[in-house]
Amino acid sequence: MSLEGTNAVVTGGGSGMGQSTCVQLARDGAALAVWDVNEAGAQETVALIEAEGNTAIAVQCDVSSKDSVTAATERTREELGPVTVLVNNAGISGPVPFLEIDEALWDRMMGINLKGPWHVTQAIIPDMIAAQWGRIVNVTSSSTQIGSPGMTHYSSSKGGLAIFTKSLAAEFARQGITANNVPPNFIDTPMLREHFGQDFIDDRAKSSMMGRPGTGEDIATAISYLCSREAKHINGHTLSVNGGNYMN
Ligand SMILES: NC(=O)c1ccc[n+]([C@@H]2O[C@H](COP(=O)([O-])OP(=O)(O)OC[C@H]3O[C@@H](n4cnc5c(N)ncnc54)[C@H](O)[C@@H]3O)[C@@H](O)[C@H]2O)c1
Repeated sequence: MSLEGTNAVVTGGGSGMGQSTCVQLARDGAALAVWDVNEAGAQETVALIEAEGNTAIAVQCDVSSKDSVTAATERTREELGPVTVLVNNAGISGPVPFLEIDEALWDRMMGINLKGPWHVTQAIIPDMIAAQWGRIVNVTSSSTQIGSPGMTHYSSSKGGLAIFTKSLAAEFARQGITANNVPPNFIDTPMLREHFGQDFIDDRAKSSMMGRPGTGEDIATAISYLCSREAKHINGHTLSVNGGNYMN
């Protein structure tokens, strides 16, 4: 798959599957803008990409802030040029019992996981419309497919992102722009380790279909395919990358 000649933005590119996705898209030929609220993480990703002889810039950005997204978009356009590949991957998680979710937590979850992709997509998509070509991949969650206890706030934000993706796909199909979503399930990243820990990972691996958690690379290669020129007739699709843990 070649993304030669394209510029890509990956949000949350400073850690976990976002970092793996940045490295993969760069291997496939894209110049990367690694957006993350954690600038050190974004710089770490850029170093990995540059070590392989590929091109990337680190851009500090909080996707929940429209001003921050506007500034990040301007910097990316100045340094790389127009962007035609976008991966909305940044997100936060963490289980909280339903009755303990307060308004501030609900709003923060929605602000980053759902409003964030809206801000970023609205800022970037004019470049895709101008090119009459573009690829958008939104990272959702298997909790949008099967539900998850303690995750009503999180799964609601990701469920919103899943249907946001389908509506984008419908609205921009005639302009050469596709939008698809990847709902990961049980991927070994800093997020999973922070919220669930090693014992959970070991237990869950035993009962999982493949006997192991997924990796960032498992997600990255699927995203890279959806971003490729070859995936031109795949639109509004949900590509489950879960080792068969949930089959639909
Ligand atoms: N790990 C899993 O098993 C799993 C399962 C389902 C869905 N997901 C989703 O996959 C995506 C990536 O998760 P991960 O496991 O790699 O997590 P991670 O915590 O390793 O990476 C998430 C990245 O997003 C960044 N980020 C957080 N808030 C941000 C903001 N406001 N603006 C910009 N960047 C921000 C973080 O700094 C971090 O670098 C997330 O959207 C997550 O909800 C993960």
